[in-house]
Parts: sequence; C-alpha cells; structure tokens
Amino acid sequence: MNAAQQDRSAEWVQIHPLIVRIAHWVNALAVLVMVTSGWRIYNASPLFDFRIPGAVTLGGWLGGALQWHFAAMWLLAANGLVYVVYGIASGHFRRKLYPITFGAVLHDVLAALRGKLAHHDLSVYNAAQRTAYVAIIVAGVVLVFSGLAIWKPVQLQELTALCGGYEGARVVHFAAMAVVVLLVLAHLAMVILVPRTFPTMITGRARRV
Ligand code: HEM
Repeated sequence: MNAAQQDRSAEWVQIHPLIVRIAHWVNALAVLVMVTSGWRIYNASPLFDFRIPGAVTLGGWLGGALQWHFAAMWLLAANGLVYVVYGIASGHFRRKLYPITFGAVLHDVLAALRGKLAHHDLSVYNAAQRTAYVAIIVAGVVLVFSGLAIWKPVQLQELTALCGGYEGARVVHFAAMAVVVLLVLAHLAMVILVPRTFPTMITGRARRV
C-alpha cells in the first residue's frame, strides 16, 4: 500500500461488525413477514374493534398467514438469539447502547423533534437511538415469548399464565407488535433524515470525523 492509499484507508473506520449487519437485515426481513402475516391472523379473530386493511397483510387467508408466521418465527427467534448472545458476550451492547441517562434521552429526543439532532460521529449512537434500540430488542423478546405462550398454551402454561392467560398473552403480543412497528417507523424516519447511516449498515464502515 503506498502512502496515498494508506492515507485514504485511514479515513475509514469499522463501525458495525459483520454479524450485527447480517443479523440486522435478516431481522428486518423476518419482522416484515411476521408483522404482515400477523395482521392477517389478527383479522381472522380481531381483539379490538378494528381490522387491518387486507392490502398490507400477508398470506391471503388465515391458513396461509399462519404458514408465513410460523416459517418466519424460526428465522426471527434464531437470528434474534444469535444477535442477543453476540451483543452481550462480545460487549457490543455495552459499548454501543450503554449508558442511557434520562437527561441525555430528553435532550436528544427534543433535539430530534426540532430537527437539530447532530449525528456527526456515526460510530456512536445518540441517547435517542440507544433508547429506541434497547426498546426494540426488549419488545422483540416479549413478542417471541408471548407468541410462544399463544402457540403452546398447554405445554407452556406457566409462560401463558405469566402473560395473564391466553387472552392476556394475545394482548401482550399485540402491544409488543405495536411498540415494534412504531419504533421501526421512527427508526426509518431517522434513517431518511440522516441517509449517511444507511450504507454503514451494509458495508460496516464510516468515514472518520
Ligand atoms: C428497511 C428497514 C430498515 C432500515 C433501512 C434500517 C436501517 C438501519 C441503519 C442505517 C442502522 C444504523 C444506524 C446508525 O449507524 O446510526 C440501523 C441500526 C439498527 N436497526 Fe435498523 N433498519 C431497518 C429495519 C429495522 C428493523 C425492522 C429493526 C427491528 C425490529 C431494526 C433494528 C435496528 C437495531 C436494533 C439497530 C442497532 C444495531 C446494533 O448496532 O446492534 N432495524 N438500522
């Protein structure tokens, strides 16, 4: 490598490990399939006084939607497990998502709402991002466990009881889905506002500031 090449490569830093990038995109696909097929399942026996427009659901009918839901469930659970175990064991969560202080979250959320949230150093998540990512991860775990409670309410009766029984587990499952969908919409809005972050989740690299 000559001096000029060395100079250029020195400007780039690795900010997202490969395993996080793969897990992120597999998760995005699994969540899309789970949510849209879940909406079709919901329509077959709505918990609340509304239905989800058929055009945004997957599976066509209850049987088809259940097949999509069960297929993507293994992808979501296995991929999520890899991501969470890696995140804890490697220190990735500690480095990227910790600490989160109330003051910093308030400051960053207010700044984001005013369109004034600076995100110069892409290797560091701001407090609003950290909170959103931790909330997405927790809601994802709740989704998987409440889903298991609905799927096997007899075999996993302790889990189902923990969720407040079968009907309770349905409400918990729906609420966790709503939290994930709202956070993902906010997440996508932030990516659109700071498009420089998008390629970093593909290549893993960002230019040093
Ligand atoms: C097409 C859809 C999506 C796009 C374009 C997208 C984009 C991104 C980008 C660019 C980052 C890095 C942000 C930065 O460096 O500042 C990121 C991180 C992240 N995204 Fe997404 N995302 C999508 C879907 C999702 C979904 C569906 C979830 C979860 C349900 C999710 C959860 C996360 C999490 C947890 C991180 C932090 C990863 C880590 O560092 O461990 N994303 N996303």
